[in-house]
Amino acid sequence: MNTSHVANPHPILPPHPGEGAGGADWTLVRADFPLLQREVHGKPLVYLDSANTGQKPAAVIDAVDDFYRRHNANVSRAVHALGTEATESYEAARRKLAGFLNVRSDELVLCSGTTFAINLVAYSWALPRLKAGDAILVSRMEHHANIVPWQLVAARTGATIRVAEIREDGTLDLDALRAAMTGDVRLLAITHTSNVLGTVNPVREICREARRRGIVTVVDGSQAVPHRAVDVAGLGCDFYAFTGHKMCGPTGTGALWARREHLQAMPPFIGGGEMIKEVSFDGTVFNDPPHRFEAGTPNIAGFVGLGAAVDYLATLGMGAVEVREAELLAHATEELDRIEGLRIFGRAPEKAAVVSFLVDGAHAHDLATLLDLEGVAVRSGQHCAHPLLQWYGVAATVRASFAFYNTHEEVEHFIVALKKVRRLLG
Ligand SMILES: Cc1ncc(COP(=O)(O)O)c(C=O)c1O
Repeated sequence: MNTSHVANPHPILPPHPGEGAGGADWTLVRADFPLLQREVHGKPLVYLDSANTGQKPAAVIDAVDDFYRRHNANVSRAVHALGTEATESYEAARRKLAGFLNVRSDELVLCSGTTFAINLVAYSWALPRLKAGDAILVSRMEHHANIVPWQLVAARTGATIRVAEIREDGTLDLDALRAAMTGDVRLLAITHTSNVLGTVNPVREICREARRRGIVTVVDGSQAVPHRAVDVAGLGCDFYAFTGHKMCGPTGTGALWARREHLQAMPPFIGGGEMIKEVSFDGTVFNDPPHRFEAGTPNIAGFVGLGAAVDYLATLGMGAVEVREAELLAHATEELDRIEGLRIFGRAPEKAAVVSFLVDGAHAHDLATLLDLEGVAVRSGQHCAHPLLQWYGVAATVRASFAFYNTHEEVEHFIVALKKVRRLLG
């Protein structure tokens, strides 16, 4: 298919994934996002909910549109030209993602997102292996997608869940984590970056420690891959899950990377077409990984879009994205710290551009609702992290999450709006 339209015309240096700060013109970059040009409630939209889902550049929207207009067919089935084009586009997306994360493409299972990816590990790796007396170690700051699948496994195997606690500043207590890695722990499930606190965990060191003790590691990369260069092979984990819609790609896309030896030893999780070599009523010969785990018709157009998203991010350079977002975070944090009675949850030294906060005397949902009327989209609630909010003893927080396409003017607008709605509530 024609992907020339995804080549980024902006003066960006260097055009290489994961490299340097680059020289992106962020005003031009922002213009790539059609939705960010709209208004809500008669005010210019200030979208600060990218940790929830990211906005899509025109290159991604166009790639999906082009697929349906010119190439739509099912994958891996038909020998006709369209079938070949669709299969090639789908597999090209796998190769692009693999290159982006520095892994082998035949170790990358394409799926609907992190939730599916972690459930695949839970049902296909953990369920057949764990037993009573085994422990699954998770951290306090996990998203429900990295808690509930393990609870389901524990309920069916008799294994127990152990929790590695955090410190008040939102960093992991690494000593406690090490102490929790006792001989009964078979699996450690840990987030790379917290969706509530922004904490970036030292996953390379954690995985090294776990590996030394024979503990298999599952890393939730949902909030890391969209915001920094991630060398998955270099992390030393066993499984790495991430989701496409937070990294400029379409919803319903994502992937699980797994070490080859695990994929080869894992039985299929979902059965059906595409994941087999041969089927008779006497039995079925399963396909090789990764296709063994991709039963049924996948979200083909979605992955074409995700391939375009990878091209887009790679052209920007993830180093440049990280620097840009760190600047926006520093700006927002400085301004928020000036507001009396405002408490920020999560002060890790290494932090993604996510700020969760509460303001004395105001409920999080009221703040978010009134901010919306000012055009500012933030999330309020428990952010699919009930155990974390329980630990802090709060029912909800407001979360402003930034992406490279946000601007310093939007940070200012957010702060002005927050002060205004606080006065209204006060
Ligand atoms: C840290 C983290 N893990 C997992 C998920 C679940 O991702 P998805 O809903 O795309 O499967 C999210 C989404 O908010 C997340 O932030």
